[in-house]
Amino acid sequence: MPDAPRPAGARDRLFVALDVETLDQADALMTELKGVVGGCKIGSQLFTAAGPAAVERALAHGFRVFLDLKYHDIPNTVAGAVREAARLGVFMLNVHASGGPAMLRAAAEAGRAATRPGQTRPLCLGVTVLTSLDRHALAAQGVVGTVEAHVLRLAEQSRAAGLDGSVASPREIRLLRGGLGPRWIIVTPGIRPDGATARADAGPATAGDDQVRVATPAAAIGAGADYLVVGRPVTGVADPGAAAAALVAEIERALDG
Ligand code: C5P
Repeated sequence: MPDAPRPAGARDRLFVALDVETLDQADALMTELKGVVGGCKIGSQLFTAAGPAAVERALAHGFRVFLDLKYHDIPNTVAGAVREAARLGVFMLNVHASGGPAMLRAAAEAGRAATRPGQTRPLCLGVTVLTSLDRHALAAQGVVGTVEAHVLRLAEQSRAAGLDGSVASPREIRLLRGGLGPRWIIVTPGIRPDGATARADAGPATAGDDQVRVATPAAAIGAGADYLVVGRPVTGVADPGAAAAALVAEIERALDG
């Protein structure tokens, strides 16, 4: 299997989460972020509101798209969804790694099969354990052992099925980099700019902000993340372009250092 493409410069490592209500709002953000960051993340909210038009608009602006719909269904249905995402031309997409080996294999194979000659196939990532679940929540589902052990188990299943990488909270980057090796793609949300919160084990970034496991771009890159996802620190401020540029500069310094 050919290696998945590795991320290049700082700008290409940052995906801004467009968690907004309308295509017009997303378009206004994209206009401000164009040329500043390489990628946009389109998740359940915007995709439910605007559909494939949101992806098409992002591509027209020149962004790479991370389609964050976390598919989890029977293998045939997930394969169909992945095929459609690949046809849309997204750069990355994700599925729940807990969907089981057959579903993961179906997702990986569908992404490859749907890619046209000359087109780059989408990276297919597995979401391991949602950050909203702790050991007690897993135990209630019948999963024994630590969250970390389960994260690693699901990432290993993802790799065995042919996926390219994992979505991982800042707390899990080192675990996955150590366990899965240098070629495994790691995409990390929960990023907060230096000076906003700054500790990997810090509390919520700001009042009303629900991220509980955060890291600075430098800490996440240093721990081994390939791509970073940032939402509200960019989309919720007066000057999204400037906020994104500052994050890219931070990533650049981390890559140089
Ligand atoms: O606004 P914020 O920077 O917290 O946005 C983070 C983005 O990453 C959101 O779109 C959220 O859905 C996503 N995400 C997350 N935590 C995970 C997985 C995904 O925050 N564990």
